[in-house]
Amino acid sequence: MEMDFHFYSACCFLIIFSKVSTAIDTLSPSELLTDGMTLVSRNGNFELGFFTPGSSENRYLGIWYKNIPMQTVVWVANRRNPINNSTGMLKIESSGKILIQVQNKTVVWSTNSTARVQNPILQLLDSGNLVAKDGKDSNPENYIWQSFDYPSDTMLPEMKIGIDLRTGFHRRLTAWKNWDDPSPSDLTYGIELKGNPQLVLRKGLEKYFRSGLWNGNGFSEAPNYRSNPIFDYDFIWNESEVYYIFFLKNKSVMSRLVLNQTQSERQRYAWSPETQTWKLFAFQPDGNCNKYGLCGPNGNCADEVPACQCLTGFRPKWFERWNSSDWSDGCIHSKPLNCQSGDGFIRIGKVKTPDSANSWVNKTINLKECRAKCLRNCSCMAFTNLFVTKGVSGCVMWFDDLLDIKHQSDGQDLYIRVSASEAAERKKKAKVKLAIILATVIVALLGFLLLVYHLRRSRRKLKDEVEDNNLNDGEDKDENEDMDVAVFEFGTIAQATDSFSFMNKLGQGGFGPVYKGTLANGQEIAVKRLSKSSGQGPKEFKNEVKLIAKLQHRNLVRLLGCCIHGDERMLVYEYMPNRSLDKFIFDETRCTVLTWSKRFRIICGVARGLLYLHQDSRLRIIHRDLKTSNVLLDSEMNPKISDFGMARTFGGDQIEANTNRVVGTYGYMAPEYAIDGLFSAKSDVFSFGILLLEITSGRKNRGFYHSNQSGNLIEHAWRLWKKGKLLDLADEFLVETGDLSKLLRCMHISLLCIQLYPEERPSMASVVLMLGSDNELPLPKELGSLFHKKPFEANSSSGNDESSSRNEISSSLLEAR
Ligand SMILES: *[C@@H]1O[C@H](CO)[C@@H](O)[C@H](O)[C@H]1NC(C)=O
Ligand SMILES: *[C@@H]1O[C@H](CO)[C@@H](O)[C@H](O)[C@H]1NC(C)=O
Ligand SMILES: *[C@@H]1O[C@H](CO)[C@@H](O)[C@H](O)[C@H]1NC(C)=O
Ligand SMILES: *[C@@H]1O[C@H](CO)[C@@H](O)[C@H](O)[C@H]1NC(C)=O
Ligand SMILES: *[C@@H]1O[C@H](CO)[C@@H](O)[C@H](O)[C@H]1NC(C)=O
Ligand SMILES: *[C@@H]1O[C@H](CO)[C@@H](O)[C@H](O)[C@H]1NC(C)=O
Ligand SMILES: *[C@@H]1O[C@H](CO)[C@@H](O)[C@H](O)[C@H]1NC(C)=O
Ligand SMILES: *[C@@H]1O[C@H](CO)[C@@H](O)[C@H](O)[C@H]1NC(C)=O
Ligand SMILES: *[C@@H]1O[C@H](CO)[C@@H](O)[C@H](O)[C@H]1NC(C)=O
Ligand SMILES: *[C@@H]1O[C@H](CO)[C@@H](O)[C@H](O)[C@H]1NC(C)=O
Repeated sequence: MEMDFHFYSACCFLIIFSKVSTAIDTLSPSELLTDGMTLVSRNGNFELGFFTPGSSENRYLGIWYKNIPMQTVVWVANRRNPINNSTGMLKIESSGKILIQVQNKTVVWSTNSTARVQNPILQLLDSGNLVAKDGKDSNPENYIWQSFDYPSDTMLPEMKIGIDLRTGFHRRLTAWKNWDDPSPSDLTYGIELKGNPQLVLRKGLEKYFRSGLWNGNGFSEAPNYRSNPIFDYDFIWNESEVYYIFFLKNKSVMSRLVLNQTQSERQRYAWSPETQTWKLFAFQPDGNCNKYGLCGPNGNCADEVPACQCLTGFRPKWFERWNSSDWSDGCIHSKPLNCQSGDGFIRIGKVKTPDSANSWVNKTINLKECRAKCLRNCSCMAFTNLFVTKGVSGCVMWFDDLLDIKHQSDGQDLYIRVSASEAAERKKKAKVKLAIILATVIVALLGFLLLVYHLRRSRRKLKDEVEDNNLNDGEDKDENEDMDVAVFEFGTIAQATDSFSFMNKLGQGGFGPVYKGTLANGQEIAVKRLSKSSGQGPKEFKNEVKLIAKLQHRNLVRLLGCCIHGDERMLVYEYMPNRSLDKFIFDETRCTVLTWSKRFRIICGVARGLLYLHQDSRLRIIHRDLKTSNVLLDSEMNPKISDFGMARTFGGDQIEANTNRVVGTYGYMAPEYAIDGLFSAKSDVFSFGILLLEITSGRKNRGFYHSNQSGNLIEHAWRLWKKGKLLDLADEFLVETGDLSKLLRCMHISLLCIQLYPEERPSMASVVLMLGSDNELPLPKELGSLFHKKPFEANSSSGNDESSSRNEISSSLLEAR
């Protein structure tokens, strides 16, 4: 009897359990979702159903996170039309229309998309997106309707906030009225199109916060967000659309951006599994200076006391009020303008550029033309260059008062209109300052450290006020201002490296040997002693170093400075204690240090670093020599790409897309580059593919031998792929201990990257997405025949490099057979 009972309850438990675990994520026209029932997305991330917010008694249809204890609603359907009992139900009609009815008749909410499909279904996706689509459509992304198009107060990863410029359709966030009432309040956040598009947080008509200009890499609002561990973001602006979007760097982290009505803030939260709470990660407006227009017209805000100052060339409109910290009236020109007889401009460095509501944008004019245009139009008060994504530089002009400017260490330059006499005066002052600095320099020669210190300080001061007379183009800066990169004395370097002693030699990279050094202050450095044949003058070289030093990303090795000694050139980098990736993955014992999860992190890091070089940096660099020995590892095994910008620096004529001098390393070179000398970002994608293959297999592409198979690693990989046995190629250690599906996914991606034709390879942007998601991957095309082409004749004078290129140029991809 008792046995029976146990058996029975066990059965019951099983039944209930299996019911729970087979929760459905779709609804078809023949089904109803009544109050109390829910849809659950496939991986159990999100749940859709009726809920009651706070202490309200109303029922709403909404979506919330499924697997956290705190109910966190991210979307509400009938936010304007609550249901006051539990007779609500959701359905999708065979026309594809979605509606919520009460009591089986009154419609309280419905979609009105006119698109019709054969087999409409409603599905809750793991992204938190509720979509209506044709259940039998082979393209899973042909939505006829999606909740991501109608955001409530929450922005989830992969959701767009912005405007479809073809239809004028807006997607913006609107806060809940309060904790109990999801109906729309007056706090909104979206992109505004006047002049240069920017994100604006508004309460009613009043602006609370705005993002500032998109500078191709980030908003001037948010300086260091790129390197945050949680999310990455993008801003797209082309003929068809303008939007802001963010992606999770780690899919298992939960992060959302939400409008908070009571605080009138835009807040970003991340879920903390340890404390089981949402952690406030960032919020805006944060700090005085992000409050819209705090300093009034033509004021400049800084995080100091008092917060507001007039822009250079301006004075408070009312001194008394200004002196008592009432800044709302702002500032006026201290000397009246005289447009007809000619005004001038002063450059203000490092600011968040003014509100673009009364601005004008042209994506094709350069800075010089921009200045001329602004000078001609008497109501133009300021101009600067606009960084359109992908390194294109344009022009922005502002009319009338300049609003909401703040000082920001990584902000942009702004050129503001002042009277001719004011401009002349500034110039004189700047010259005097320069003279003072020179004097200081002479005096300070006595103490080297003191000198460096002084220079930096005075440079920073100068930057705000020096008039810029020789505008050439967007990247023109004057000499005094931008030496963020140190020029080391030869003696310092020689001492640090013990006169380049053999003991300190770290290795022989492309372009020359590398030495470890320790500066007098204890800092460890790596010094690359460049081979002598670059033929670059010291000035050219310094300029190039400055440009390269501006490329900063957590996955790039930081260039600290350079050293010039006679005709010798040296580059000084931060030192990476764990040396390079090849020292681990190809080493029988050390390979176990890099577990699969570490390797995956390395892969993602390298991909992001490369993406930055290709797309996000202002220079758009193609690396051209990506390989395991160029991926360095810091003390925490974070990957950092080295040797970037070298081809640019030493290539000269190689900036062109076709070159007769090939740099790079065989085995990693894309066929079109190795054979025809053609390169593009896609050639780097190829090298990345090889890198990926090597990291996952633990074998070198060059020098790969298989006992009874002929061919190189690539051919071997392709053979195994065709047999559906790609995993056989993977490092056994990884197969035993790693996440097999991810491992296989990475190998799959590597095959996509090493396609013969560059246009068939994904961009690094897609690679980063593929690595970060679980979406289905396209199938790679046949790889077989490509590497049978004859290698090109070795007329290459790769010149600078002994070990990595020239010796290997005579060998080839085929050599390994
Ligand atoms: C339930 O509420 C809806 C509106 O919220 C109303 O139209 C309907 O009559 C109510 N039904 C009952 C049984 O109270
Ligand atoms: C629910 O709302 C309907 C009208 O929408 C109203 O007639 C009814 O009295 C309400 N019921 C309750 C319990 O508030
Ligand atoms: C709703 O009405 C339809 C027909 O009008 C009926 O078949 C169905 O059973 C009703 N559903 C509920 C839950 O009352
Ligand atoms: C539905 O159609 C109306 C009128 O055409 C339009 O104003 C409204 O924005 C549409 N609503 C949705 C949710 O598409
Ligand atoms: C605009 O950018 C989006 C996203 O990169 C892209 O899908 C779309 O094709 C672009 N449209 C145009 C007209 O370039
Ligand atoms: C992703 O986040 C989870 C949970 O915070 C963590 O356990 C995991 O190690 C992270 N994965 C990566 C690749 O960083
Ligand atoms: C709004 O922000 C405050 C302060 O950060 C927080 O305590 C509160 O819970 C937030 N409200 C909502 C609805 O998230
Ligand atoms: C305001 O402060 C400035 C500088 O501190 C001073 O020169 C000026 O006289 C003050 N004006 C008034 C009206 O207090
Ligand atoms: C930008 O300026 C160029 C050159 O003056 C002009 O041809 C083009 O039409 C302008 N574009 C816009 C959008 O005004
Ligand atoms: C100056 O620019 C503004 C805004 O584009 C324009 O409305 C005005 O006509 C221009 N004035 C002149 C003199 O070009």
